[in-house]
Amino acid sequence: MNENNVETLRWVDDHLEMIDQRILPSKFSYISYNSAKSVANGIRSMVVRGAPAIGCAAAYGFATEALKIQNLKKVDFLSCMENACKILLESRPTAINLFWAVNRMQLIIKDNHNMDPRELAIILLEEAHKIKAEDIKINRMMGEFGAELLADGANVLTHCNAGALATAGHGTALGVIRSAVESGKKISVIADETRPFLQGARLTAWEMVQEGIPVTLISDNMSGYLMSQGEIDAIVVGTDRVAGNGDVANKIGTYMVAVLAKRHNIPFYVACPLSTIDRSILSGADIPIEERPASEVTGYQDMQWAAKGVSVRNPAFDVTPADLVTGLITEKGVVLRPNSEKIETLFK
Ligand code: MRU
Repeated sequence: MNENNVETLRWVDDHLEMIDQRILPSKFSYISYNSAKSVANGIRSMVVRGAPAIGCAAAYGFATEALKIQNLKKVDFLSCMENACKILLESRPTAINLFWAVNRMQLIIKDNHNMDPRELAIILLEEAHKIKAEDIKINRMMGEFGAELLADGANVLTHCNAGALATAGHGTALGVIRSAVESGKKISVIADETRPFLQGARLTAWEMVQEGIPVTLISDNMSGYLMSQGEIDAIVVGTDRVAGNGDVANKIGTYMVAVLAKRHNIPFYVACPLSTIDRSILSGADIPIEERPASEVTGYQDMQWAAKGVSVRNPAFDVTPADLVTGLITEKGVVLRPNSEKIETLFK
């Protein structure tokens, strides 16, 4: 268990274990992984989800593959690792952390090209451990900056799950809330249920209940009414990819929340580690948006409620234009009213 009693991913002996987030909160169990292919399947099928957690999982997927094939000849080892990258990178398209983490692992091989496969496997595993530990540290730093933005007694709405389960620990958006609570503030969370995969109802609500942080669950179509009634003081969400101009891709429905927040003059914050900013993309229009299976909209797990034969759209993310974002909360501080210049400065 880690600091929030939720260890999304853990290394046990010689393999990776990840909490099966598809069955929470009715069951809490880990699944074991020992190859890039199995981890890629875990990412695709949402055993693990949330941008930073996907990045950590991919790094471990890369390391497990290296360990598995460490006795191959160097040339065969390198070609199998190339293939492992491809498999991992095809698992989900929107979260930039996946590409960031795999790229970081590939650089380890490149920078240590004189090592033999066994030595490489060891340092690749060390790098995956580092990525995981850094993620928790960065979330804590964002948490401290973000906590200052929340008033004592605030009701804070969040969408999807950007908590410990979406990261290596502490969380991004929920990390801000956790840090505010740790600093002595009374914070109440309003959790959007987050159709269709219900990350809010199943995961955010579960995390908050576990820790005794007051949480109220609403269905996604209720947030406008609550805002109009003055029941929401601030909004904090996570993100899967931020473009160079500050446009934010996050779970489908986030854009609606941001528009409503503007209408009601409610601050809309995005917790965003620098690894989630993609400066190679100039605006949100170029962020690839994942389209997921129709079965996620027509029902959930074994239960199907929509008419058979209906056509379905299931874009998993939407893009909130930068001008609707009050501030990006990063590990380097809060960037108010983000734009290209301010984002560039973060990397100097
Ligand atoms: O489809 P998911 O569950 O992977 O989507 C997750 C989100 O949209 C989160 O808000 C985002 O990844 C930020 S997680 C810290």
